[in-house]
Amino acid sequence: MEIQVLDGALEAEEVGPPGGPPLVLVHGFPFDRRMWEGQLRGLSGACRMVAYDVRGMGRSPVGDGQYTMELFVDDFFAVVDALGVERVIACGLSMGGYILLRALERDPGRFHGVVLADTRSSADDDEGKLGRASAIRMLREEGSAAYGETVLPRLLGSTTLAEKPEVVETAKAMVRSNDPRGLRGAQLAMLSRTDTTASLPGLGLPVLVLAGEEDALTPPETARAMAARIPGADLEVVPRAGHLSALECPGEFNRHLRAFVERLEASADGGAP
Ligand code: MLT
Repeated sequence: MEIQVLDGALEAEEVGPPGGPPLVLVHGFPFDRRMWEGQLRGLSGACRMVAYDVRGMGRSPVGDGQYTMELFVDDFFAVVDALGVERVIACGLSMGGYILLRALERDPGRFHGVVLADTRSSADDDEGKLGRASAIRMLREEGSAAYGETVLPRLLGSTTLAEKPEVVETAKAMVRSNDPRGLRGAQLAMLSRTDTTASLPGLGLPVLVLAGEEDALTPPETARAMAARIPGADLEVVPRAGHLSALECPGEFNRHLRAFVERLEASADGGAP
Protein backbone atom coordinates (compact mmCIF):
# COMPACT_ATOMS: atom_id res chain seq x y z
CA MET A 1 0.00 0.00 0.00
CA GLU A 2 1.14 3.55 -0.66
CA ILE A 3 0.90 6.38 1.84
CA GLN A 4 0.75 9.86 0.41
CA VAL A 5 3.13 12.43 1.79
CA LEU A 6 3.63 15.99 0.57
CA ASP A 7 6.04 15.14 -2.22
CA GLY A 8 5.39 11.50 -3.04
CA ALA A 9 4.25 8.23 -1.52
CA LEU A 10 5.81 6.01 1.13
CA GLU A 11 5.68 2.26 0.63
CA ALA A 12 3.96 0.35 3.41
CA GLU A 13 2.51 -3.06 4.07
CA GLU A 14 -0.26 -4.12 6.39
CA VAL A 15 -0.85 -7.58 7.83
CA GLY A 16 -3.01 -9.12 10.53
CA PRO A 17 -6.64 -8.99 11.55
CA PRO A 18 -8.52 -5.70 11.87
CA GLY A 19 -9.60 -4.55 15.32
CA GLY A 20 -7.56 -3.16 18.16
CA PRO A 21 -5.19 -0.27 17.73
CA PRO A 22 -2.78 -0.83 14.83
CA LEU A 23 0.87 -1.48 15.58
CA VAL A 24 3.11 0.70 13.41
CA LEU A 25 6.68 -0.56 12.95
CA VAL A 26 9.47 1.95 12.24
CA HIS A 27 12.73 0.37 11.11
CA GLY A 28 16.36 1.20 11.84
CA PHE A 29 19.22 2.41 9.67
CA PRO A 30 20.50 1.48 7.07
CA PHE A 31 17.62 -0.93 6.53
CA ASP A 32 14.00 -0.89 5.43
CA ARG A 33 10.68 -2.41 6.40
CA ARG A 34 11.91 -5.92 5.55
CA MET A 35 13.74 -5.69 8.86
CA TRP A 36 10.37 -6.54 10.44
CA GLU A 37 9.86 -9.76 8.49
CA GLY A 38 10.00 -11.86 11.68
CA GLN A 39 7.37 -9.67 13.35
CA LEU A 40 5.08 -9.45 10.30
CA ARG A 41 5.16 -13.24 10.00
CA GLY A 42 5.30 -14.19 13.66
CA LEU A 43 2.58 -11.87 14.94
CA SER A 44 0.25 -11.71 11.95
CA GLY A 45 -2.36 -13.79 13.77
CA ALA A 46 -2.22 -11.57 16.82
CA CYS A 47 -2.56 -7.97 15.72
CA ARG A 48 -2.92 -5.53 12.85
CA MET A 49 0.55 -4.34 11.90
CA VAL A 50 1.78 -1.72 9.50
CA ALA A 51 5.42 -1.49 8.48
CA TYR A 52 6.58 1.30 6.16
CA ASP A 53 9.79 2.25 4.44
CA VAL A 54 11.23 5.42 5.90
CA ARG A 55 11.87 8.03 3.22
CA GLY A 56 15.05 7.31 1.25
CA MET A 57 15.08 3.60 2.11
CA GLY A 58 13.40 0.47 0.76
CA ARG A 59 10.82 1.39 -1.85
CA SER A 60 10.02 4.83 -0.51
CA PRO A 61 11.24 7.72 -2.65
CA VAL A 62 14.73 9.12 -2.23
CA GLY A 63 13.70 12.57 -3.51
CA ASP A 64 16.32 15.24 -2.96
CA GLY A 65 18.07 13.29 -0.17
CA GLN A 66 17.74 16.27 2.17
CA TYR A 67 16.09 14.88 5.28
CA THR A 68 15.61 16.05 8.83
CA MET A 69 14.21 14.18 11.81
CA GLU A 70 11.24 16.58 11.63
CA LEU A 71 10.51 15.38 8.09
CA PHE A 72 10.71 11.75 9.23
CA VAL A 73 8.24 12.60 12.00
CA ASP A 74 5.91 14.35 9.50
CA ASP A 75 6.01 11.12 7.48
CA PHE A 76 5.26 9.00 10.54
CA PHE A 77 2.18 11.11 11.29
CA ALA A 78 1.14 10.80 7.64
CA VAL A 79 1.19 7.02 8.13
CA VAL A 80 -0.97 7.31 11.27
CA ASP A 81 -3.40 9.62 9.43
CA ALA A 82 -3.61 7.17 6.53
CA LEU A 83 -4.71 4.41 8.91
CA GLY A 84 -7.76 6.46 9.79
CA VAL A 85 -7.25 6.18 13.54
CA GLU A 86 -6.57 8.72 16.22
CA ARG A 87 -3.96 6.65 18.05
CA VAL A 88 -1.59 3.77 17.35
CA ILE A 89 0.81 1.56 19.20
CA ALA A 90 4.24 2.17 17.70
CA CYS A 91 7.46 0.21 17.82
CA GLY A 92 10.70 1.78 16.62
CA LEU A 93 14.16 0.26 16.48
CA SER A 94 17.19 2.52 16.77
CA MET A 95 16.59 5.26 14.13
CA GLY A 96 12.92 4.26 14.33
CA GLY A 97 13.13 4.99 18.05
CA TYR A 98 14.61 8.44 17.38
CA ILE A 99 11.63 9.14 15.12
CA LEU A 100 9.12 8.00 17.75
CA LEU A 101 10.80 9.87 20.61
CA ARG A 102 10.53 13.12 18.67
CA ALA A 103 6.98 12.28 17.51
CA LEU A 104 6.04 11.79 21.17
CA GLU A 105 7.27 15.31 21.93
CA ARG A 106 5.28 16.75 19.06
CA ASP A 107 1.98 14.93 19.54
CA PRO A 108 1.71 12.35 22.33
CA GLY A 109 -2.04 12.15 21.73
CA ARG A 110 -1.47 9.95 18.67
CA PHE A 111 -0.11 7.05 20.76
CA HIS A 112 -1.63 4.30 22.90
CA GLY A 113 1.80 3.02 23.79
CA VAL A 114 5.34 2.83 22.47
CA VAL A 115 8.07 0.22 22.21
CA LEU A 116 11.58 1.67 22.03
CA ALA A 117 14.07 -0.96 20.89
CA ASP A 118 17.86 -0.60 20.78
CA THR A 119 17.62 3.17 20.78
CA ARG A 120 18.59 6.22 22.81
CA SER A 121 17.14 9.65 23.61
CA SER A 122 20.46 11.51 23.58
CA ALA A 123 21.62 13.38 20.49
CA ASP A 124 25.02 12.77 18.90
CA ASP A 125 28.11 14.10 20.63
CA ASP A 126 30.99 15.47 18.54
CA GLU A 127 32.55 12.04 18.09
CA GLY A 128 29.21 10.70 16.88
CA LYS A 129 28.81 13.58 14.42
CA LEU A 130 32.28 13.01 13.00
CA GLY A 131 31.51 9.30 12.68
CA ARG A 132 28.44 10.16 10.61
CA ALA A 133 30.52 12.53 8.44
CA SER A 134 32.88 9.59 7.70
CA ALA A 135 29.92 7.34 6.94
CA ILE A 136 28.52 9.92 4.52
CA ARG A 137 31.88 10.16 2.78
CA MET A 138 32.13 6.38 2.52
CA LEU A 139 28.61 6.11 1.13
CA ARG A 140 29.49 8.73 -1.49
CA GLU A 141 32.82 7.21 -2.49
CA GLU A 142 32.17 3.47 -2.13
CA GLY A 143 28.41 2.96 -2.09
CA SER A 144 25.96 1.02 0.04
CA ALA A 145 27.43 -2.50 -0.25
CA ALA A 146 30.87 -1.46 1.00
CA TYR A 147 29.26 0.57 3.75
CA GLY A 148 27.24 -2.47 4.82
CA GLU A 149 30.36 -4.64 5.01
CA THR A 150 31.96 -2.08 7.34
CA VAL A 151 29.02 -1.35 9.57
CA LEU A 152 27.31 -4.72 10.01
CA PRO A 153 29.94 -6.32 12.26
CA ARG A 154 29.19 -3.51 14.76
CA LEU A 155 25.42 -3.72 14.43
CA LEU A 156 24.98 -7.47 14.75
CA GLY A 157 25.63 -9.32 18.00
CA SER A 158 28.54 -11.73 18.40
CA THR A 159 26.11 -14.69 18.59
CA THR A 160 24.46 -13.77 15.29
CA LEU A 161 27.84 -13.21 13.60
CA ALA A 162 29.06 -16.61 14.78
CA GLU A 163 25.92 -18.72 14.45
CA LYS A 164 23.39 -17.15 12.06
CA PRO A 165 24.95 -16.61 8.61
CA GLU A 166 21.48 -16.34 7.04
CA VAL A 167 20.64 -13.33 9.24
CA VAL A 168 23.98 -11.72 8.37
CA GLU A 169 23.23 -12.23 4.66
CA THR A 170 19.68 -10.84 4.97
CA ALA A 171 21.00 -7.72 6.69
CA LYS A 172 23.76 -7.28 4.08
CA ALA A 173 21.34 -7.66 1.20
CA MET A 174 19.04 -5.03 2.69
CA VAL A 175 21.85 -2.47 3.05
CA ARG A 176 23.18 -3.27 -0.43
CA SER A 177 19.80 -2.64 -2.02
CA ASN A 178 19.38 0.78 -0.47
CA ASP A 179 20.26 3.89 -2.48
CA PRO A 180 23.36 5.59 -1.00
CA ARG A 181 21.73 9.00 -1.52
CA GLY A 182 18.88 7.98 0.76
CA LEU A 183 21.29 6.58 3.34
CA ARG A 184 23.32 9.81 3.30
CA GLY A 185 20.15 11.80 3.83
CA ALA A 186 19.17 9.64 6.80
CA GLN A 187 22.62 10.13 8.31
CA LEU A 188 22.17 13.89 8.06
CA ALA A 189 18.76 13.64 9.72
CA MET A 190 20.21 11.62 12.61
CA LEU A 191 23.25 13.89 12.90
CA SER A 192 21.04 16.96 13.29
CA ARG A 193 18.37 15.43 15.53
CA THR A 194 17.54 16.99 18.88
CA ASP A 195 18.03 15.43 22.30
CA THR A 196 14.71 14.11 23.63
CA THR A 197 15.93 13.08 27.10
CA ALA A 198 14.30 16.01 28.90
CA SER A 199 10.84 14.91 27.76
CA LEU A 200 11.13 11.33 29.05
CA PRO A 201 9.83 12.01 32.60
CA GLY A 202 6.72 13.63 31.11
CA LEU A 203 5.70 10.62 29.02
CA GLY A 204 2.33 9.59 30.38
CA LEU A 205 1.71 6.41 28.40
CA PRO A 206 2.76 2.76 28.51
CA VAL A 207 6.33 2.31 27.27
CA LEU A 208 8.35 -0.84 26.77
CA VAL A 209 12.10 -0.48 26.32
CA LEU A 210 13.84 -3.42 24.64
CA ALA A 211 17.58 -3.97 24.38
CA GLY A 212 19.72 -6.62 22.78
CA GLU A 213 22.02 -8.16 25.36
CA GLU A 214 24.98 -7.88 22.94
CA ASP A 215 24.05 -4.44 21.53
CA ALA A 216 27.34 -2.52 21.31
CA LEU A 217 25.76 0.73 20.00
CA THR A 218 22.99 1.16 22.55
CA PRO A 219 23.97 -1.31 25.25
CA PRO A 220 21.50 -2.53 27.88
CA GLU A 221 22.87 0.05 30.37
CA THR A 222 21.79 2.83 28.00
CA ALA A 223 18.35 1.27 27.68
CA ARG A 224 18.12 0.83 31.44
CA ALA A 225 18.99 4.49 32.05
CA MET A 226 16.40 5.61 29.50
CA ALA A 227 13.70 3.36 30.96
CA ALA A 228 14.47 4.65 34.46
CA ARG A 229 13.54 8.19 33.34
CA ILE A 230 10.15 7.15 31.95
CA PRO A 231 7.47 6.73 34.62
CA GLY A 232 6.24 3.13 34.71
CA ALA A 233 8.30 1.97 31.73
CA ASP A 234 9.21 -1.70 31.48
CA LEU A 235 12.62 -2.88 30.35
CA GLU A 236 13.36 -6.25 28.78
CA VAL A 237 16.73 -7.50 27.57
CA VAL A 238 16.75 -9.84 24.56
CA PRO A 239 19.42 -12.50 25.14
CA ARG A 240 21.95 -13.33 22.39
CA ALA A 241 20.86 -10.33 20.30
CA GLY A 242 22.87 -7.32 19.15
CA HIS A 243 21.63 -3.92 17.95
CA LEU A 244 19.16 -5.50 15.52
CA SER A 245 17.28 -7.48 18.15
CA ALA A 246 14.04 -7.73 16.13
CA LEU A 247 15.88 -9.30 13.20
CA GLU A 248 18.38 -11.36 15.17
CA CYS A 249 16.04 -12.93 17.73
CA PRO A 250 12.48 -12.48 16.46
CA GLY A 251 11.01 -15.15 18.74
CA GLU A 252 12.06 -13.49 21.97
CA PHE A 253 11.44 -9.99 20.59
CA ASN A 254 7.93 -10.99 19.51
CA ARG A 255 7.15 -12.51 22.88
CA HIS A 256 7.70 -9.12 24.56
CA LEU A 257 6.00 -7.16 21.80
CA ARG A 258 2.96 -9.41 21.86
CA ALA A 259 2.61 -9.22 25.65
CA PHE A 260 2.80 -5.41 25.47
CA VAL A 261 0.15 -5.17 22.74
CA GLU A 262 -2.15 -7.64 24.53
CA ARG A 263 -1.83 -5.66 27.74
CA LEU A 264 -2.86 -2.48 25.96
CA GLU A 265 -5.75 -4.17 24.20
CA ALA A 266 -6.97 -5.66 27.47
CA SER A 267 -7.09 -2.29 29.20
CA ALA A 268 -10.54 -0.75 29.01
CA ASP A 269 -9.72 2.25 26.86
CA GLY A 270 -6.64 0.79 25.22
CA GLY A 271 -4.51 3.44 26.87
CA ALA A 272 -4.13 2.56 30.53
CA PRO A 273 -1.06 0.62 31.61
C1 MLT B 1 20.14 2.26 13.50
O1 MLT B 1 20.23 1.05 13.73
O2 MLT B 1 19.07 2.79 13.19
C2 MLT B 1 21.40 3.10 13.59
O3 MLT B 1 22.42 2.37 14.19
C3 MLT B 1 21.12 4.37 14.34
C4 MLT B 1 22.30 5.27 14.38
O4 MLT B 1 23.14 5.26 13.46
O5 MLT B 1 22.39 6.06 15.34
